[in-house]
Amino acid sequence: MSVMEDTRPLDTVADFPAIPDGWAYLDTAATAQKPRPVIDAITRAYAETYATVHRGVYARSADMTVAYEAARRRVAGFIGAASPDEVVFVRGATEGINLVAQTWGQSLKPGDRILLSMLEHHSNIVPWQLLAERTGAAIDVAPLTADGRIDLDAVEAMLTPAHRLVSLAHVSNVLGSILDGRRAADLAHRVGAKLLLDGCQAVPRVRVDVAALDCDFYVFSGHKLYGPTGIGALWAKAEILDAMPPWHGGGAMIDRVSFERTTYAPPPARFEAGTPHIVGALGLAAAIDYVEDIGLDAIHAHETALVRAARAGLAGIDGLTLFGPEDSAGIVSFAIPGVHPHDIGTILDEERIAIRAGHHCAQPLMEHLGVPATARASFGVYNRAADVDALIRGLLRVMRIFG
Ligand SMILES: Cc1ncc(COP(=O)(O)O)c(C=O)c1O
Repeated sequence: MSVMEDTRPLDTVADFPAIPDGWAYLDTAATAQKPRPVIDAITRAYAETYATVHRGVYARSADMTVAYEAARRRVAGFIGAASPDEVVFVRGATEGINLVAQTWGQSLKPGDRILLSMLEHHSNIVPWQLLAERTGAAIDVAPLTADGRIDLDAVEAMLTPAHRLVSLAHVSNVLGSILDGRRAADLAHRVGAKLLLDGCQAVPRVRVDVAALDCDFYVFSGHKLYGPTGIGALWAKAEILDAMPPWHGGGAMIDRVSFERTTYAPPPARFEAGTPHIVGALGLAAAIDYVEDIGLDAIHAHETALVRAARAGLAGIDGLTLFGPEDSAGIVSFAIPGVHPHDIGTILDEERIAIRAGHHCAQPLMEHLGVPATARASFGVYNRAADVDALIRGLLRVMRIFG
């Protein structure tokens, strides 16, 4: 009997040509597989409609510019931005955070403070460390609750008027814990700080509305949202983007260039130097169409049911340690004492089950959990009850092998 009998599952796996029958792909938190409409949008763009944007005077280029800017509007609508001009196309969340650190962050000075949390991905730690080294600002680290959420009571107690920025994961890539983003924004704003939310793991799993969250910056990567790699978005409130100095210099980000003095384009162009990832933006728009057709609420319900089933099955395995809260969003991390997660991953791979094993680019969190690494199963729209069953069967084999 399936461990997931209470689920009304999505039935989308046929949309994903790279998922062969009988392969349980449980590494969506690393990168999502691509549905046919996204592959078709990319193929069509290269095979039929390709040209540059923002430069050509010929019709093909004008049409591509319209499509590229329509993709920006699609992203803006998807996350509830007030205007597409608040959306900057970047390579992904990592680049978005670095952009904020290196432009907005230039105004930080010695004595200023940045608050992060113990569960952050390295891409929401290292850019701030580099900024702190350059500016003399200091970094504080908020603790977690016992079940693996960012402890917002502790955040409230830690924040002071010296804090200029709070930067937190909206959903943890290791524990799947969902942050109360609105409360985090209220706490940050109360002391005059800005809030950046790292939405990499949130946008594929929960409905995101930056206006309701009242955050100041939001970043995500397209490839975790069933879109292509190399494209993502940084959203920021218009008045913040307007005041930010340029980042990369080059074509497209200027107003007028002379050797005496160069002036810059308004956002978002100011932050998109050079020829952009045109087709990536179109692929991202197709991915947003795809997930919105299914519905974020349906995706969330589906993944929550898969997580519930997986946690119930994992809890039945003797000696296995489960991390993260019960209601984690689509992501489950675990460890088996005495068995390295890489061995778990290798044995599961023999059973055609793909999980992630390692530190998940969250070494401080590993240290906090007291393990060098974890095994992580993460779900997407294409996963089914059978994948959870396969995972549990595979882990029972791991237990037999390791006695
Ligand atoms: C929470 C979180 N933040 C940031 C990133 C970095 O994303 P990317 O490598 O696409 O820039 C990831 C990727 O795993 C992530 O899970």
